[in-house]
Amino acid sequence: MGKAWVKARHRDPYYRAAKAQGLRSRAVFKLIQIQERFGLLYPGNTVLDLGASPGGWSRAAAELVGPRGRVVAVDRVSMIPMERVTFVRGDFTDPDLHTAILEALGRPADAVISDAAPKLTGHKSLDVARTLDLARSALTLARKALRPGGSFVAKTFQGDGYRTFLREVSEDFDAAKGYTPPATSLGSSETYVVGLKKIG
Ligand SMILES: C[S@@+](CC[C@H](N)C(=O)[O-])C[C@H]1O[C@@H](n2cnc3c(N)ncnc32)[C@H](O)[C@@H]1O
Repeated sequence: MGKAWVKARHRDPYYRAAKAQGLRSRAVFKLIQIQERFGLLYPGNTVLDLGASPGGWSRAAAELVGPRGRVVAVDRVSMIPMERVTFVRGDFTDPDLHTAILEALGRPADAVISDAAPKLTGHKSLDVARTLDLARSALTLARKALRPGGSFVAKTFQGDGYRTFLREVSEDFDAAKGYTPPATSLGSSETYVVGLKKIG
């Protein structure tokens, strides 16, 4: 990373707040803002968190679902164990991993949340396409894992294919919305697709 990037990061209020509060990543503020906007996670819920490492979203989700709820976190990269969070290591785009994920859940999930992102190449159209591929895989898994009425969140970028994906989500949910949390880095086209109330 260049010096300008390091400087910008240190000026970033969300990065500074995450450090000051001992949080695992600044990404946690995005989930909190999505939660404030849509109210997706409730005490007692079972949540599937895809692309979970280093664990900011998992920890926030575990706090929101409380002692009667639980979180199953999936990532290719391991993360430090947390109370109420079961970690499954692997690639969630691989259907072979789905059985292990569904077993770890033990019951249909109330919410599937995905902050999964590929290693960015800097080639915008490639990064947009790869992120959308991950979001689409998260939707495939959500179709198997979510209970009727459950909710879905996936990280995407606005760009080619974004509108098509939003339409695909709207086929499985009562409503599909795009939302860019204020904590998203300035100038980024990152946005989250939210599916409300899974049909059937
Ligand atoms: C932006 S980070 C997630 C940050 C996390 N939400 C937090 O709050 O700490 C994106 C994560 O997606 C994971 N990821 C990307 N592709 C994946 C895949 N196919 N299967 C599992 N994890 C994946 C990466 O390993 C990375 O840890």
